[in-house]
Amino acid sequence: MTLGFPAGFRWGTATAAYQIEGSTTADGRGPSIWDTFTARPGMATGDPACDHYRRYREDVRLLSELGVPYYRFSVAWSRVMPDGRTVEPRGLAFYDRLVDTLLDHGITPMVTLYHWDLPEALQAEGGWPNRALADLFADYALTVHKVLGDRVRQWTTINEPFCAAFIGYGNGDHAPGIRDEGAALVAGHNLLLAHGKATQALRSAGGEQEVSIVLNFAPVLTDVDDAAHREAARKFDFLHNRFFLDPLLGRGYPPELLADLAHLGTLEPAIADGDLEIIAQPLDVLGVNYYAPARAVPLDDPETDSNCPLPGLRGMDVQPPRGELTSLGWEQRPECFTELLLWLHEHCGGLPLVIAENGAAFEDEVVEGRVHDEKRVRYFAEHLAAVHTAIERGADVRGYMAWSLLDNFEWAMGYTQRFGLVHVDFETQERVLKDSALFYADVVARNGL
Ligand code: FCB
Repeated sequence: MTLGFPAGFRWGTATAAYQIEGSTTADGRGPSIWDTFTARPGMATGDPACDHYRRYREDVRLLSELGVPYYRFSVAWSRVMPDGRTVEPRGLAFYDRLVDTLLDHGITPMVTLYHWDLPEALQAEGGWPNRALADLFADYALTVHKVLGDRVRQWTTINEPFCAAFIGYGNGDHAPGIRDEGAALVAGHNLLLAHGKATQALRSAGGEQEVSIVLNFAPVLTDVDDAAHREAARKFDFLHNRFFLDPLLGRGYPPELLADLAHLGTLEPAIADGDLEIIAQPLDVLGVNYYAPARAVPLDDPETDSNCPLPGLRGMDVQPPRGELTSLGWEQRPECFTELLLWLHEHCGGLPLVIAENGAAFEDEVVEGRVHDEKRVRYFAEHLAAVHTAIERGADVRGYMAWSLLDNFEWAMGYTQRFGLVHVDFETQERVLKDSALFYADVVARNGL
């Protein structure tokens, strides 16, 4: 049976600058927080990653061979403005060439302005807990728009502010590696403010651009349906799934969430008059990243800190994932994807949704020139079917970007986690299409499963 997708459904693949580009000192690029963070002993770095900065033409040819019409990539702030402020024309010229090359191959570019790689110079000024970064980000957005705005219509301000703020400044597992729960909340607020100001800047530039932000969501599961478990799930859900979303929708931070975080004492003082209006700029679409659900359990003592990586949560914990896991240890639950999309459709009042990332890491091997990644094929098939079900049940989902085009630098996990449709040999930089790439190309060609 064929599951057909709506006419005009946007099929794409996604990548991020630091995960694929390499060439971290080329053409005047300045260091980003990921260069500094990965200079720690024993860590893999973003050089050479997929050497995409030099091989982008080959990669665009691959995209074109696959016949996937949209491509989501990110611009590295530290290439375009090595110190966060001063323009480096050679850095901008790279993205200019990339956009032209994509368009020459009939591929529509979708630009993400921030995928976690803050210029180190701005971290030296305090990083995202410093609200001055919001204005600098808006200047940067406008600078990129001036060069690409005549050809790029789809703009995403920020990818997963949750990870940038809570993992970067809360538990410190990501760059800049700071462990300060109170500062993490302020970073989250300032990222939202940066999004709002950048959105205003992009809109002021005129044109017909579509502006979005990309958020990551984790539906919360519990074993027991009682008041204590529901409250544990509520806490996790509000911080993970609504801290960023509700202010964007013009509803401010949910009062329950503010109460959950009150003991840290940092969030409310960081919200200046007028911030919530700036954050609530109308969005054209919401970018949705979904990989896996979370599992919540109550703690007896409501004052006990949670072991989960979200800053400020108390009285609940997360439980280990179950069932079949990906190589990153993530639980595979396509049905949660359907429910998430239906919930978002309702919660966001019908705002169009685009899946900006979905995919899975598995241990792949090249055998006689092929990569038979059945597990990834199954993951995509099941999750695309889940998206289809959500659309049938009324969710307004306009597109799907597979994560990722290439095996790449998976942040703190280095090169150990392969998410690509295309296998990359990091010694030789040879690219080999996996079976999942052929599967996805077929889905795209038929606009259905
Ligand atoms: C998301 C990130 C993306 C990639 C995937 C696996 O959180 O946005 O860069 O690392 O996870």
